Amino acid sequence: MENKRVAVIPGDGIGPEVVGEAMRLLQRLQERQNLSIEFVCFDWGAEKFLNEGITLPDDALVMLSNDFHAILAGAFGDPRIPSNKHAEDILLGIRRGLDLYINLRPVRLLDARLTPLRDRTPPDIDFVIFRENTEGAYCGAGGFLKKGTDHEIAIQEELNTRLGVERIITAAFEYARTNGRKRVTMADKSNVQRFAGDLWQRVFKEVASRYPGIEANHQYVDAMAMLIVLDPTQYDVIVSNNLFGDILTDLGAAIQGGLGLAPSGNIHPGKISLFEPVHGSAPPLAGKGIANPIGAILTSAMMLEYLGYKSASDAIERAVREAISGAETTPDLGGNLSTKEAAEAIMRRL
Ligand code: NAD
Ligand code: IPM
Ligand code: MN
Repeated sequence: MENKRVAVIPGDGIGPEVVGEAMRLLQRLQERQNLSIEFVCFDWGAEKFLNEGITLPDDALVMLSNDFHAILAGAFGDPRIPSNKHAEDILLGIRRGLDLYINLRPVRLLDARLTPLRDRTPPDIDFVIFRENTEGAYCGAGGFLKKGTDHEIAIQEELNTRLGVERIITAAFEYARTNGRKRVTMADKSNVQRFAGDLWQRVFKEVASRYPGIEANHQYVDAMAMLIVLDPTQYDVIVSNNLFGDILTDLGAAIQGGLGLAPSGNIHPGKISLFEPVHGSAPPLAGKGIANPIGAILTSAMMLEYLGYKSASDAIERAVREAISGAETTPDLGGNLSTKEAAEAIMRRL
């Protein structure tokens, strides 16, 4: 098999701690299975920005797309940079710059003990969220008028393009079709956001008509937030815009056991894509060695699947499940292991 090149950007806070374990695991797996992955690390993050003023280097996007098949990232965010400028440049810069229009975030309960929802078992919580990842409220358009005065005006715009809406909705239906899922539910706020909502509604109906075997369902996003808690069994595939998708996926992380174990992929099918845990840099945990590595490890499994190493990906997931049922976990999941020990517990089971 062709050698795969992975760019690793550990980032800030707990990012390097959890990504370090994911890499260690991949390296160990590589010796056992027939994988051929070469890792190259990049120090882009808060420290580099503070020391050198550099966020995402000028040639980064071209270099990434010419030289690599995938990117594995940790997290970006540092209390010393309240503007979040570096994270915006690096993370949002890569999502937009490489046109990674699908933010794919699975919501899967791996063990009944993990969910805060009463009496829910793994088959009850098993869906995927397709979050639009290149536009919406993340377009960065807007500005101030009369800044600093009593009459200050802040304008924050939201961008919805026909192409952007259509490709994320199509990706959701295509995923449903190829993965045997029966229903796609779109979340929006079309009762208030009349223009964007109208576009999303029209495109949703149009795309749905191309997939007669798949049920197309709509919910307002506020109702969906409630229903995800009250009845998560009804979801197969959810599709939404960038901001609603961001919010829903933290909720999704919570019902599968917490941010510590939720993985994600920022994907442009057929092109270089970026994989990162859903969680952030968790400053209060940084340096303590107790961050849960599972989010990063399941993320690396998603990346392997994307790179064509499906059986290695499945093996990681199996090992994670077993470590969780053996209660060999970090404190956020009720265990008492360190980041390293929790990762070891998974590696032992590979
Ligand atoms: P966060 O995800 O860092 O933390 C939220 C909560 O989840 C905290 O209680 C934290 O302790 C817990 N948590 C997160 N990851 C965990 C793990 N691996 N193990 C155990 N517990 C974990 O979100 P936040 O506190 O809102 O943000 C902190 C910083 O991270 C901010 O600068 C924010 O902008 C940034 N952030 C970055 C990303 C990213 O890079 N993709 C995502 C979210 C937040
Ligand atoms: C995420 C994060 C990012 C986002 C932040 C850090 C910019 O919350 O990946 O979910 O809002 O997309
Ligand atoms: Mn988020």
